[in-house]
Amino acid sequence: MVGEKLVEEKNEGLSRRKLLVGAGALAVGAVTAGGVLGVNPEVAFSGENVKVVVNGKEVTGAVPASVVKGTTVAPVRPVAESLGAEVVWDKAAKTVNITGKAAGSLSVPAWPWPYKKLDPKVVKKRGYELYFKGGCMYGAAAAILFTLQEEVGFPYTTIPGDMFKYGAGGAVSWGTLCGALNGAGAMLNLVNKDYSKVLNELIGWYTEYPFPSKDHEDYCKFKNQVTTVAKSPLCHASVSLWVNAAGAKVNSDEKKDRCGKLTGDTAAKAVELLNALVDGNFIAAYKVSTEFEHCMTCHWEKGMDNEQGKMNCVSCHDDHTKK
Ligand code: HEC
Ligand code: HEC
Repeated sequence: MVGEKLVEEKNEGLSRRKLLVGAGALAVGAVTAGGVLGVNPEVAFSGENVKVVVNGKEVTGAVPASVVKGTTVAPVRPVAESLGAEVVWDKAAKTVNITGKAAGSLSVPAWPWPYKKLDPKVVKKRGYELYFKGGCMYGAAAAILFTLQEEVGFPYTTIPGDMFKYGAGGAVSWGTLCGALNGAGAMLNLVNKDYSKVLNELIGWYTEYPFPSKDHEDYCKFKNQVTTVAKSPLCHASVSLWVNAAGAKVNSDEKKDRCGKLTGDTAAKAVELLNALVDGNFIAAYKVSTEFEHCMTCHWEKGMDNEQGKMNCVSCHDDHTKK
């Protein structure tokens, strides 16, 4: 997976080594006298020819790169030029002048980043699988991120999926915003200025969806699981309702399978909505349920304006207007 391996392969059995330079090293400061920082030459034998790969593309010169006394020696020009730097040979001074951006000054493309329509089915399965590697927020964000890394490449290759691990269990198990929503939301925000209307729709959809879907039956661990509607974007409500309906525990494999499916379902829905937005046929279908619509009329900004949030009031408060 692209997002997980931007560094060198460490398979000792290979005679030709692959040296991958991640986009993080996309600065000429990273290219030293023939050597390339960020690679570990010790895994190759001295004198052995090695492959140099910059941002996924093999770089070749008149002379192949090799390992000399533990240092990778590669032709400077093709490596530096592949990183967008200018290389000038000053014959009189016997100096190679390389002009590029200073280390660490890699310019970040303007927001939003270019989105390419993704296949919701691919993202759905990937979200399920990645859930088991880093939780719900990681699973949802990385399902979209890693697919964009493959489909688009840079600048998505500069984001580590691991940064989304904090959202697991509604932020380090606090049970607040479902991590799948949080992760999908981060990616929606990255790729579209209209993220708020898409995320609003996604959260509304989530609160009314009977999770988990049956779309994972071919590869999941627990088939045909019980479904519940949380009426809330909170991990707390979503998980607690489900485990009680399923007769399972929060820390059980059944619950993990359910949340893995939910992660895939939510990431796929985010991609569906985003694709529709790009195609110009996005529809905001979510409507506030009649259960709490009237609460808003009095407590929201046109009334008393003394309540923050769009969550279903009656899942926590009694309706004091009904006696
Ligand atoms: C017709 C207007 C109206 C509607 C509809 C309404 N409220 Fe209220 N609500 C009030 C007023 C007025 C108060 C009292 C405000 C005060 O005393 O500061 C209040 C107070 C509250 C309080 C604070 C309770 C307390 O003891 O101070 C809560 C919580 C609340 N409402 C929730 C809801 C919920 C949930 C709904 C929908 C199911 C709802 N309200 C619908 C007008 C309304
Ligand atoms: C996830 C549960 C939850 C949801 C959903 C929720 N609330 Fe609350 N609400 C609380 C909690 C907790 C408090 C803090 C005060 C308390 O402990 O009573 C509170 C406080 C309030 C207060 C102030 C009460 C006071 O005594 O001053 C109002 C008014 C209120 N909520 C209205 C609403 C309305 C209207 C909605 C729906 C749009 C809503 N709440 C949705 C949990 C919730």
